[in-house]
Amino acid sequence: MNAKQAAGYKAAEWVQEGMLVGLGTGSTAYYVIERIGQRVAEGLKIQAIATSKASEELAEKYRIPLIKAADVSKLDLAIDGADEVDPALALIKGGGGALLREKLVAINSDKFIVIADPGKLVPHLGAFKLPIEIVPFCYEWTLVQLKSRYDIEFQMRTRDGGLYMTDNGNYIVDASFGVIKDPGTLDAELKQLTGVVDHGLFVNIADVVVIGHEDGTTEMIEKP
Ligand code: A5P
Repeated sequence: MNAKQAAGYKAAEWVQEGMLVGLGTGSTAYYVIERIGQRVAEGLKIQAIATSKASEELAEKYRIPLIKAADVSKLDLAIDGADEVDPALALIKGGGGALLREKLVAINSDKFIVIADPGKLVPHLGAFKLPIEIVPFCYEWTLVQLKSRYDIEFQMRTRDGGLYMTDNGNYIVDASFGVIKDPGTLDAELKQLTGVVDHGLFVNIADVVVIGHEDGTTEMIEKP
């Protein structure tokens, strides 16, 4: 067992019969989906919504019943990874590009559990580049707006020689803030920019973080 698996398997214990569950994206969320899939094979009855096409495919592989958002008004629980976690449980997410669906699912869940290895715990957010999802139309102007407001490096995310496209058909720009002193203020500022769809700051959304260790043990950090 590795740290990510320990965290994922522990968090999967929160899932109870009949729950509506949000499935995260990434290498840590992989283990939650795997463990929930094992429990479904043993007879657990749940329904889920996946936060990316990759997680949807994984859920289908494990025969986890998937529903559409239109079928339910909210979820009982969402479990997802993070790129950085600060002491107030504010997060940077979106390294895997699924931040918009992840945030939509997290804020529409009664409980949002974050799973991580110890390397994700940081005193301040911002060493990890903040992913910002922007619409392709006139994205160059959105980039100019961002650059005029923040004197930092912005990089359009690329893949296979072209611009990276999210599952929602948008682009991602990664922003090198270094240290984000006030995640709440930056969260609100970025949301106001036309052309920005959303960003990877998750402030006051996580309820608990499960940290997995290489020896298979876990610890829980509750929202302060
Ligand atoms: C996906 O878009 C991300 O938000 C992931 O949840 C995050 O990048 C953590 O991924 P890992 O568990 O692979 O580190």
